[in-house]
Amino acid sequence: MGSVVLGVGAHLPARVLTNAELSERVDTSDAWIVERTGIRQRHIASDGEKTSDLAIAASRRALEAAGLSGADVDLIIVATTTPDLTFPATAARIQAALGASGAAFDLQAVCSGFIFALATADNFLERGQANTALVIGAETFSRIIDWSDRSTCVLFGDGAGALVLRRGDDRGRGVLSTFLRTDGRMHDLLYVDGGPSQTRSVGHVRMVGNAVFRQAIEHISGAMLEACARADVPIDSVDWFVPHQANQRILDGVARKLGIPGDKVISTVALHGNTSAASVPLALDVGIRDGRIKPGDLVLLEALGGGLTWGAALLRL
Ligand code: UT7
Repeated sequence: MGSVVLGVGAHLPARVLTNAELSERVDTSDAWIVERTGIRQRHIASDGEKTSDLAIAASRRALEAAGLSGADVDLIIVATTTPDLTFPATAARIQAALGASGAAFDLQAVCSGFIFALATADNFLERGQANTALVIGAETFSRIIDWSDRSTCVLFGDGAGALVLRRGDDRGRGVLSTFLRTDGRMHDLLYVDGGPSQTRSVGHVRMVGNAVFRQAIEHISGAMLEACARADVPIDSVDWFVPHQANQRILDGVARKLGIPGDKVISTVALHGNTSAASVPLALDVGIRDGRIKPGDLVLLEALGGGLTWGAALLRL
């Protein structure tokens, strides 16, 4: 048995924050942000708009695309670093709102969270521990940004994406392979300087950007090759690459390193910025809804984030 993708959905908060507005808050410029990252704008949740609100909206779209309702879902895994509350899991609130059953829990692998959640759900389905899973990446990263730190505040945005996976025996379709890695020795390259146990606070994102950048190109490329090797698929037969949207220069660097044509890479970084665990399903949703990614296409997802964590997943839609 394996798991088949039935539907994808996404949701962004209405409020758009442009580079020009950020330039009035901190010492930066539209030219610097565009040249160094490719980002032009990001969406920001309004006061009171929670991670669960974004996730529920994205999930409803994914269920609609799958032709299912919340009552059909018996597993929810939410990849998030910005839960509504320290506990219960944001997934519990989402489960109640959708009328789903079974197990629902959050998973924390920062920007790689969606890939980790997808791999986890795939294992649950393969083992017969659930039948229909909602895999969600949802973030209100704006809540943990230090808005006076120009080296991080220009990078991130809010949003959510969701994917419906169903246990199925169509071995040619669905999740063909996954690859996950964590290297905790690089913990201090990208972290939040607060948390319940260490500081009794929420904290703000801190990043040694250029060191993470170098790690990203190397490990993302390796993970993509490994996911392809595990499925015995040559990388040049992949139809679409859906990367974590941290920086256009990382997308370009990885594509160059692996000889991937740029027009096979779905990029939303200009419009969404880095939405952490939400970025991969948001980009997948864009590629499907604008008609580029079609049923039957071979799609390679990848991400790297705090931990450091990284991974890739190969899907046949
Ligand atoms: O999603 C999780 C994974 N995250 C990533 O993959 C992010 C990886 N890192 C990056 O994308 C890039 O490293 C950044 C976009 C964060 C930074 O770009 P960079 O080319 O690596 O710049 P840098 O950090 O080496 O800084 C270059 C200069 C510095 O000034 P000095 O020291 O050379 O005078 C920074 O202070 O750019 C300065 N700088 C800025 N200038 C204007 C940093 N942020 C800004 C800014 N506006 N917003």
